[in-house]
Amino acid sequence: MPLITVIHGDGIGMEVIPAAVEVLQALHLPLTFQTAEAGFSTFERVKNALPRETLALCEASDAILFGATQSPMIKVGGYQSPILSLRRYFDLFCNLRPAQGNGLDVLIVRENTEGMYSRRERVEHGGNTTIAERVITAKASERIARAACEWAMKRRQKLTVVHKANVLNETCGLFRDRALAIAADYFDLTVDEGLIDSTAMHLAQDALNGDGSRYDVIVTTNLFGDILSDLVAGLTGGLGIAPSANIGANGHGVFEPVHGSAPDIAGQGIADPRAAILTAAMLLDELGYSAQADRVRAATRETAHTGSTPKTTEAIIERISQTAS
Ligand code: IPM
Ligand code: MN
Repeated sequence: MPLITVIHGDGIGMEVIPAAVEVLQALHLPLTFQTAEAGFSTFERVKNALPRETLALCEASDAILFGATQSPMIKVGGYQSPILSLRRYFDLFCNLRPAQGNGLDVLIVRENTEGMYSRRERVEHGGNTTIAERVITAKASERIARAACEWAMKRRQKLTVVHKANVLNETCGLFRDRALAIAADYFDLTVDEGLIDSTAMHLAQDALNGDGSRYDVIVTTNLFGDILSDLVAGLTGGLGIAPSANIGANGHGVFEPVHGSAPDIAGQGIADPRAAILTAAMLLDELGYSAQADRVRAATRETAHTGSTPKTTEAIIERISQTAS
């Protein structure tokens, strides 16, 4: 029986993740749940944002449903974002971020382990010069490209490799070359490439024109994927309905909505639970429950968020029960 570790995290994570768990439970599947702690409030209490016990619980489970954690804008000694730690610890190299709306239907496949997230930053000249190293490896570029190709094969068979190789000749150059080389083996795919800046503009134009034929699967490096996934979320209905999955090679998966902890609206019962519920659907897909995942997605897409977390959740559960087979 699959075991799911549930990490609420901070802020609205404490509201939207229980809502997603309610939806999962309403499906009456043989799933078991255990909760674990992580986040900024955990850090304030035990000086560790991702305690060892949490990692052990995650390690022993089949999937992890993760809410959101508050990341301070400025450096706080000893604090590390737990989602970044989880990605690193379980080598969750593939971040899947699908978005549908305003004509767009895209899947961003974001490299999740290196690039600008390599944590190689240093300070020189007494603090007047700061340097970040952007690590791009052939291995990580090839494995993310392969994952993106596999996803594109299951969709509209179109892949766009997004980079900035005209400026970042070495790092983006390597990513581009390796990704295109992998894609060349997939004869059924239509493959092209784009620069990150013009891709952002084209996505915005396509959403304005309601024409999503240009992009299907986009594969890109870590920070570009972070930014592009917020952009497409904004273009297709907002962060309130943007799910994501972090998938590893060894079967681990951490499922988290794209949105953050939203401290401004936390604790009021007004957060939109749909992103977390759509994220739970991605978790169901990964566990092999695709039919149930489709039911959850259909019910969620038909439900508007009217401003109350419990009411929206209830309405989605009601719709799911109407489609019960
Ligand atoms: C995301 C988030 C994280 C990231 C933050 C919380 C560290 O923005 O999952 O997109 O930058 O990857
Ligand atoms: Mn982000």
